[in-house]
This record gives sequence, C-alpha cells and structure tokens, in this order.
Amino acid sequence: MKSGRLSYALLSAVFCLASVSVSTPTSAQDVSFGQRLFQDKADCKFCHGAEGDGRGDPRSPGAAANLRQTMLNKLQLAEVIACGRPGTEMPHFDKYAYDDDTPCYGMKSADVGSDRPPDPHSTPLTRREIEAVADYILGAFAGK
Ligand code: HEC
Repeated sequence: MKSGRLSYALLSAVFCLASVSVSTPTSAQDVSFGQRLFQDKADCKFCHGAEGDGRGDPRSPGAAANLRQTMLNKLQLAEVIACGRPGTEMPHFDKYAYDDDTPCYGMKSADVGSDRPPDPHSTPLTRREIEAVADYILGAFAGK
C-alpha cells in the first residue's frame, strides 16, 4: 500500500498546484486574450511596436505613444482605445465612437468634426476586448 499512499500524495500535490493556478484564471486569461488582440487582431503593434515602446513599423502613421511611459489608469486607457485621440493618428476602436448615443470626451461627430480619429486599419473592438487590451498594457508595458 506504500505506493498507493505515495501516488495519493502526488495526486493531492498536483491537485493543490492545479487549484493554485485556477485561483487567478480571469486575469491570466485576460492578459493572453489582450495580448492576442494587441499583437494580432487589432494590430496595435503596427504603430506601438511589439514591445509597446512606440517603435512600430516605420511605415505606420503618426508618432505612436510609448506605452511603457503611459500615466493612464485602466479607465483612461479604455477611453483612449475606444475613442482614439482627436487630431492624431490614434484610431477609435469603438465602432460607435462619437455617435449620438456614445459621445467621446463629451463630443459627438458634429463637435469633433475633422479632428475625428481615423477608423482602425485592422478591426473595431468590443467593450470586453477594449478592457482586455487595457489590462494587457498595464500588465506588460506600463512602468516597465
Ligand atoms: C495607426 C497607428 C496606431 C494604431 C494602429 C494604434 N495606435 Fe495607439 N496611438 C497612436 C498615436 C499616434 C498615439 C499618440 C496620440 C497623441 O499624440 O496623443 C497613440 C496613443 C495611444 C495611447 C495613449 C497613451 C498615453 O499615455 O497617452 C494608448 C493607450 C494607445 N495608443 C493604445 C493603443 C492600442 C491598445 C491600440 C490597438 C487596439 C492602438 N493604440 C493602435 C497610433 C496608433
């Protein structure tokens, strides 16, 4: 029965490790989800660089921000990602940004006029995706 006990001990050790790793599933998952969005689907890296340091593709427009130096909190990051930055090349990733129902920085289409940030060259993002990208920036780049 010695080996039976041993394997039980091993099994509970494995189980224990497994429960440690499932105790933080949301944040870990959100980071890799956010990472895929940043690096692939939304192609933020084209302008901001894979390292988030603002050194993207030389053909990318505008001087993209170095996200390692950002001072923005999650809410502010999500707002910039959803709304873009008026008058700059930072696109708005919320498809409905500046519509009557979803003003940005208190502005609707008529208010922002020709300063309206461009549509993304990649794809718009949902609210949940925008928050996951914001989490990824905070976890992987900000202050690094
Ligand atoms: C077409 C190029 C381009 C793409 C694509 C792009 N950005 Fe930007 N981004 C910029 C530029 C340019 C700025 C600087 C705007 C300014 O001068 O204020 C900026 C600024 C930002 C800022 C503000 C940082 C700060 O501290 O003020 C955040 C956050 C940001 N981008 C996140 C993203 C994310 C996330 C994505 C992808 C979902 C993305 N950007 C895609 C060009 C881009």
